[in-house]
Amino acid sequence: MSETTPPRMRAISQDTAGGPDVLHLIETDRPEPGPTEVLVRVQAAGVNPTDWKTRARGRFYSGQEPPFTLGFDVAGVVEAVGAGVTILAPGDEVFGMPRFPRPAGAYAEYVTAPARHLFRRPAGLGATAAAALPLAALTAWQALVDTAEVAPGQRVLIHAAAGGVGHLAVQIAKARGAYVIGTASAGKHEFLRGIGVDEALDYRSVDFAETVRDVDVVLDTMGGDHPTRSLRTLRPGGGTLVSIVPPDETFPVEQARAAGVRAVFVMVEPDFAGLREIAALVADGRLRVEVAAVLPLADAAKAHVLGETGRTTGKIVLSVSD
Ligand SMILES: NC(=O)c1ccc[n+]([C@@H]2O[C@H](COP(=O)([O-])OP(=O)(O)OC[C@H]3O[C@@H](n4cnc5c(N)ncnc54)[C@H](OP(=O)(O)O)[C@@H]3O)[C@@H](O)[C@H]2O)c1
Repeated sequence: MSETTPPRMRAISQDTAGGPDVLHLIETDRPEPGPTEVLVRVQAAGVNPTDWKTRARGRFYSGQEPPFTLGFDVAGVVEAVGAGVTILAPGDEVFGMPRFPRPAGAYAEYVTAPARHLFRRPAGLGATAAAALPLAALTAWQALVDTAEVAPGQRVLIHAAAGGVGHLAVQIAKARGAYVIGTASAGKHEFLRGIGVDEALDYRSVDFAETVRDVDVVLDTMGGDHPTRSLRTLRPGGGTLVSIVPPDETFPVEQARAAGVRAVFVMVEPDFAGLREIAALVADGRLRVEVAAVLPLADAAKAHVLGETGRTTGKIVLSVSD
């Protein structure tokens, strides 16, 4: 390990469940990489809805309780490698979403990560954009490609198509050769067309459940009654509804079965193969992440306030180091 690496680091921590103001800057021990892990000097950390949901709940999906450090998306430089790591070396510029749904602690100057939860950044992809990609792009990839197997010529409906997951899902579906219908408020339709949406629907004035038909795949990013109402848009006797919002008791598994369609919930997983595909799409110029705001690490609370408005176009990123 480098002798110049400081043994302490800055991180954002919380001691209790609560609003954005529970987030505060601390100084803490820098983590050490174990076998098969690498130590990453974090340049930027992506902010996701799961971060503010975890903050408010005071509990990770995997059970950890405060004090803890939020953040899953990381872009940075490998500082050191643990025993057995051959695929990464000090100096490599990487990105990824390590450990989800267990804590990754990305709102910090250093993280450790299993080497295969990271991937080398494509040339030309800066740290800010790289930090905005992993969780949202892997979610879109695992939902549309691994689960729904979107194929050329298929019709895909994407709810909240201007959001973090949505705008990447649109581009992934287009890269698979699909016809894409996306929902957003009218002011974002130009943005939707810019990322390849074929039909933009203003959800405030048009009811998708009454107007959209013969869709092969729906990506639900909204929950509530969206999954049930989205079933009506699917091609009769076929099609898949993939939701990324944890299902409640109204989630229409039985209704879907009766209609001969599929309704499933997907939770994103760390995914070396998926990161490789995402990196390839970025390198080909077929996937571009929209960064709506960049704030310094110390302003994590402000980033949460901004994100929790639910109006973000693309992603919010914390800048950690150069
Ligand atoms: N299962 C998983 O593994 C997984 C992974 C990632 C995310 N998620 C979940 O998926 C959801 C979406 O995440 P995200 O990062 O994409 O969120 P986000 O970026 O915060 O979403 C913001 C977008 O939602 C749009 N929106 C709000 N209400 C809408 C409506 N009724 N119809 C259509 N669009 C609407 C907004 O557009 P307007 O301003 O036009 O309203 C805005 O562009 C969150 O609940 C998140 O926790 C789950």
